[in-house]
Amino acid sequence: MDIVLNWGPVASGKYKKAKSLYKAGEYVKSARVLTKELAKKPNKYGFYALAQCCILLGDHENAIKVLFTALEKDRSFHEAFFLLGHIHVILKRRVEAIGFYEQAVMTDPINEDYKQKLAGVISTQNFNSMNSNLKSVLIECMKSEQIEILFMGKAWLSVVEHDTSVEPFFELSKYDDYVLFKNDMERFSNCDGLIEPLFLAGLGRFIVTKITFENWLKFLRRYLLESIVEGKSLFTDENDIELMICALSRYCFLSDYIMSYGSEEEKMLEGLEKKINAAGANPVLAELACYGCYKPLYALSNAKEIAAGLEGGNHVSEIPKSQIEEYLAQQEIFEEIEVLGKIKDETSREVQAQYEVFPYPRWNVAALDLFDPRVEGYLKGTKAEILIAGCGTGREAVYMANAFPDAQITAVDLSKTSLAYAIFKTRKMGIKNINFYQADIMTLADLPDWQGRFDYITSSGVLHHMKDPKAGWKVLCGLLKDKGLMRIALYSRHARWAINEAREVIGNKKIGSDSRSIRTFRDNINTHLENETIEKFRFPLDYYNLSECRDLLFHVQEQQFDLLQVKEHLDGLGLEFLKFCLRKNIVEEYKKQNAMTDPECTNLEIWDKWEQENPDVFIGMYSFWCRKSD
Ligand SMILES: C[S@@+](CC[C@H](N)C(=O)[O-])C[C@H]1O[C@@H](n2cnc3c(N)ncnc32)[C@H](O)[C@@H]1O
Repeated sequence: MDIVLNWGPVASGKYKKAKSLYKAGEYVKSARVLTKELAKKPNKYGFYALAQCCILLGDHENAIKVLFTALEKDRSFHEAFFLLGHIHVILKRRVEAIGFYEQAVMTDPINEDYKQKLAGVISTQNFNSMNSNLKSVLIECMKSEQIEILFMGKAWLSVVEHDTSVEPFFELSKYDDYVLFKNDMERFSNCDGLIEPLFLAGLGRFIVTKITFENWLKFLRRYLLESIVEGKSLFTDENDIELMICALSRYCFLSDYIMSYGSEEEKMLEGLEKKINAAGANPVLAELACYGCYKPLYALSNAKEIAAGLEGGNHVSEIPKSQIEEYLAQQEIFEEIEVLGKIKDETSREVQAQYEVFPYPRWNVAALDLFDPRVEGYLKGTKAEILIAGCGTGREAVYMANAFPDAQITAVDLSKTSLAYAIFKTRKMGIKNINFYQADIMTLADLPDWQGRFDYITSSGVLHHMKDPKAGWKVLCGLLKDKGLMRIALYSRHARWAINEAREVIGNKKIGSDSRSIRTFRDNINTHLENETIEKFRFPLDYYNLSECRDLLFHVQEQQFDLLQVKEHLDGLGLEFLKFCLRKNIVEEYKKQNAMTDPECTNLEIWDKWEQENPDVFIGMYSFWCRKSD
């Protein structure tokens, strides 16, 4: 994990000297000057700077000591807590790191970076208890719209599962039969235990990649629906049903309604829909949100009026209100999207049709971790022209706009639904340097002004959905300047073996790819595939969201590659392979085993052999940078 190490406002003469030494990379000398000066004039920022030198010199234990000295001077010195968190992450002492990040968040609650780092470390952790400080800090993280907590689901569950008030309800996740679940639910005198702040704050802020949890939610949803329809009261405070059901509706919305339901629930929903329609602009909130646990509220005939009548802001009805209003805003944007040429290719049209109904992916914050200063650093601060080819719902485009704020970004995609989502998000975030267009990559070859125009083109998870990926890639090469940079991500055949088995079953059994068929396939997955295969593709978030599951297992057009084919394409297109965009630990492992034969880690033939021995390495695709040769 890299953080930008702040020097802090160290002002006077000797400290200035230490700073210039530090900036020149003379950390030993800088530390010496600082130590001398601190003995005479102790200053918390001086200690902080010294700790930074120690970190860069690899002396982490000393950095910790120095930071504790700084904290003796000022217990509210949040930068020191944050740096302590950072050091403990480096030292792989995650529990301690969480403690320090927690202190940083508590002493500076408006700092979103602190929350982001805390959320990042927490994502990898399994808890079985929790102190009350961490609990309130976590609730703060979940309220923030600016930090990416999508991956925190399992950690959050491990906490709330052990919370004494929610635990008895979670115990019912052992049932795979609704009748047994319901019998036990009815033994509780009330459901007040479910109104636990951390549980409600987390529900619907992220997806939990655990099938038993999803099944439990499915039963809970049915139980709440039945109770609402029967007018049964479940909570001591009548208003608590709104808190519970709105939070659950957020989960269902976020997962694009992936949980299945049967005909009895369908019947109850029909009744509920009639009641909601009859109530005009003012339906009962619990009934509305309950309907929203099954179906999108924006599809209700009077959705616009309902949203207008709901209170927003901090009120719980903000959840249904924003679901409707954001959709309506995207509908308006949809109509305005600029189109570049007709989509003529039949495969492109089929792919477009898929993503119009199942846009990919739903995202909160574009907190991708892709920037590589050695490969891309030269473009920072320049007015580079960047193209995102197949931008989907805009996550990568927004990430690039943040990483290259001076650049001019162009983003194209086949799907207007995806583009509308992307434009909506971009406007909400106040990002101004992206232009979105609907276009087929193939037709970009017909735009004379675009040829040789771009300094950098990225295309992630796109070319393998084209009829002829190499032809699409060639078009992109034509749009690139000489020596221009590309980041491409393609599916690996080796990594996707389990997904291929699932796709084969889906094909052979002629299982449809509409919402209902996807849900039914998931419900019966054990009858289709071996456990070992299922577990291979059931861990990523994609399996737990309907649109993403369609993309994962039911794609209308998918091709896959191995690294020898990638090499062949690169050679054929005049592209030089630069580097894989891979986690550091994977590259380290590769280096350890191939240091003699591939010291630069650029030999795709050796990578190919290595991948065959380690088939999971590229499960997240072959993502790599390459450069156009002269
Ligand atoms: C799996 S999504 C990836 C989206 C985005 N790159 C990301 O990583 O979040 C694939 C996207 O590629 C787009 N796409 C596929 N073929 C395309 C083509 N020929 N021209 C433009 N976009 C295309 C689809 O519409 C879809 O939005």
